[in-house]
Amino acid sequence: MSFDRVGPLLGQRVLVTGAGGQLGRYLVPAVRRSGATVIALGLRAAAGIDVAVDLADREAAVNAISSVSPDVVIHAAACTDVDGIERDPHRGDSGNAWATRNVADATSDSRGYLIAVGTDMVFPGDGGAPYAEDAPPAPISAYGRSKLEAETAVLETDPAFAVARTAWLYGGSGKHFPRTVLSVLRDRGGIDVVDDERGSPTYAADLADALVQLAVTRGCGVFHLVNEGSASRFTLARETARLAGFNPDLVRPISTEEFLKRYPLPARRPADSTLRNMRAAALGISLRDWREAVKRYVPHLVADLLPGTTAASTTAMGGR
Ligand SMILES: NC(=O)c1ccc[n+]([C@@H]2O[C@H](COP(=O)([O-])OP(=O)(O)OC[C@H]3O[C@@H](n4cnc5c(N)ncnc54)[C@H](OP(=O)(O)O)[C@@H]3O)[C@@H](O)[C@H]2O)c1
Repeated sequence: MSFDRVGPLLGQRVLVTGAGGQLGRYLVPAVRRSGATVIALGLRAAAGIDVAVDLADREAAVNAISSVSPDVVIHAAACTDVDGIERDPHRGDSGNAWATRNVADATSDSRGYLIAVGTDMVFPGDGGAPYAEDAPPAPISAYGRSKLEAETAVLETDPAFAVARTAWLYGGSGKHFPRTVLSVLRDRGGIDVVDDERGSPTYAADLADALVQLAVTRGCGVFHLVNEGSASRFTLARETARLAGFNPDLVRPISTEEFLKRYPLPARRPADSTLRNMRAAALGISLRDWREAVKRYVPHLVADLLPGTTAASTTAMGGR
């Protein structure tokens, strides 16, 4: 008999969607550490994926989830191609709004509890930040609208379900902002970054732990799970550069207007979408300050992007 598996979700079956994505890769081990049995759902068959299904396909999604009969579903799958959705809003309708409705219906049929991951991009960012959970959403992009429809589907299906909005996620080996900053610094020796876009940078590892805590408390309604504080893209980029051992002055400020003249993007981003965690904090769930989280993560990024160097030796190599 083994006594080594203990934890707050011991004995529960937890289905994680988007298991192969940026957040999912932290979420699966975090749920496993909680003692639960994890079922990892991905869009395609791959190593570490237990169930492969397109959640936008209603029949396939409902069958797949019902056959697992989960106690808890943490829905991290989404179409996150913000500009792609602006060009073709159908992708957001199907990958976010409809897929989430399918997940909500199937979880309800299985009498499980659902946490769906949401986004700061449901807010316009033109004045109300930092946004508390009850601030009125008013998305300015097709992605934001599709994620707001997903939220509505979740809470219409069962008010005991939860939506956990997060923002500016980074972590792992996929594409994210701190990785782009260090890659460009390494390859081009300097980078221009907008200083008039603000938000809540959030380490996916911290979010994964907070989602597990939320699953334990079975909190219902809307939550904001982000690292504490607020940063501009420029501040986050400079901090990332500094922690990696680059001269922070290699990160140069520009305005969003100037950036968009050079690199036009179809989707508008909120100017300040900083989120305030009030409701999860009241349950005892809060994430550390964003600067501490970046400090924890950047050494992993340096090991990945600048192998053979330490943060301290990067300055000597290419940091100037
Ligand atoms: N990234 C951010 O900055 C950010 C900010 C705020 C909120 N969020 C939210 O946080 C959550 C996790 O984001 P993330 O950064 O981990 O995104 P991600 O890396 O793009 O991962 C999303 C995963 O969902 C899968 N997926 C997409 N459509 C699917 C479908 N129809 N059926 C089944 N699986 C599907 C994708 O599979 P493939 O890889 O095979 O396509 C991918 O593995 C999402 O809800 C996102 O909206 C993200």
